[in-house]
Amino acid sequence: MTHVFTIAIDGPAGAGKGTLARRLADHYRLNLLDTGLTYRAVAYALIQHALPLDNVSAAETAARQVDLAKLDRTVLSAHAVGEAASKVAVYPTVRRILVEKQRDFAKTPPGAVLDGRDIGTVVCPDADIKLYVTASAEVRAQRRLAEIESIGGTADFTEILADIMRRDERDMGRADSPLKPAADAHLLDTSEMAIEAAFLAAMAIIDDVLAKRD
Ligand code: C5P
Repeated sequence: MTHVFTIAIDGPAGAGKGTLARRLADHYRLNLLDTGLTYRAVAYALIQHALPLDNVSAAETAARQVDLAKLDRTVLSAHAVGEAASKVAVYPTVRRILVEKQRDFAKTPPGAVLDGRDIGTVVCPDADIKLYVTASAEVRAQRRLAEIESIGGTADFTEILADIMRRDERDMGRADSPLKPAADAHLLDTSEMAIEAAFLAAMAIIDDVLAKRD
């Protein structure tokens, strides 16, 4: 089979798309790219050099230097880096550089699961499967809190919720590639769904598409 298979997963921060993407990539033996890490890498580079996040030419240089094989989740997963990432992600020139790398990744056989905000709408508009994973802001904040507490940290629910809502606003409100479901995306609301149930629901959608194709 020469066809490169693509699964596009989009949705707001904390909806569970990262875990879902990993489970699907394992199950269907596809490559995996968390595209959020590419925006985080740009923000992280600026922070490291003490440069302001609105220095567009420095952000473009950092974007060109992003190496998809060297994205370090441990340093990039910090909450502050996510916030900063959503600020550099508004610049169209930065997005263009990263999107090109993401498309190259998607083209590599046997194909890939990519998760982000604009995969089904911009990066891979011809993806075989598009999922839009969402959950209420309260549920996402609750999950984030549980995650922080599970590693011994403490946080304030109200502050986390405010952060999540601010990030949603920035991601959905930007002019270039705003977060929104592609017209042909399957919607998956995980507000009242454990990750296992979300995985089974996604698998049912994908297997159905595969069955109709064979
Ligand atoms: O998914 P994650 O929280 O790691 O993404 C960090 C930020 O990067 C998002 O809030 C968003 O602004 C940006 N992003 C994006 N397009 C993507 C992935 C992430 O604009 N495909």
